[in-house]
Amino acid sequence: MIADTMNEFITAICWNEAQMTYIVNDNCIRCKTMDCVEVCPVDCFYEGENMLVIHPDECIDCSVCEPECPVDAIKPDTESGLEKWLWLNAEYAKIWPNIRVKKAPPPDWKAWDGKPDKLQYFSPKPGTGN
Ligand code: SF4
Ligand code: F3S
Repeated sequence: MIADTMNEFITAICWNEAQMTYIVNDNCIRCKTMDCVEVCPVDCFYEGENMLVIHPDECIDCSVCEPECPVDAIKPDTESGLEKWLWLNAEYAKIWPNIRVKKAPPPDWKAWDGKPDKLQYFSPKPGTGN
């Protein structure tokens, strides 16, 4: 189960604390507007079926994507409590396809903005990328 795997990772975490990155959190799930992808200078967004993630090793911490997200789902990993999202971004950026060009968002994305406990809707399936 994904929550167990996350907890194992967080317990065993040995992250290089000097390395900073931005991450995508759960509010992207089922919103996935993709406004963020075209501003990233290093093309480090990766597409799942219903959310995007940032590759922590590729992100240069420039911050230009953060204000582009209409649902405020992009955060610097220096904020507290984001360990599980750092894990999820790192793991799925390895296996999902890269996305550099915005596509049409889900028609009901506004209805999902701010819904609580969105992790339950997370899909591990890849998107189609571009
Ligand atoms: Fe890309 Fe900069 Fe956002 Fe990192 S902080 S994902 S490099 S736009
Ligand atoms: Fe998700 Fe926000 Fe980008 S909703 S796709 S992180 S613009």
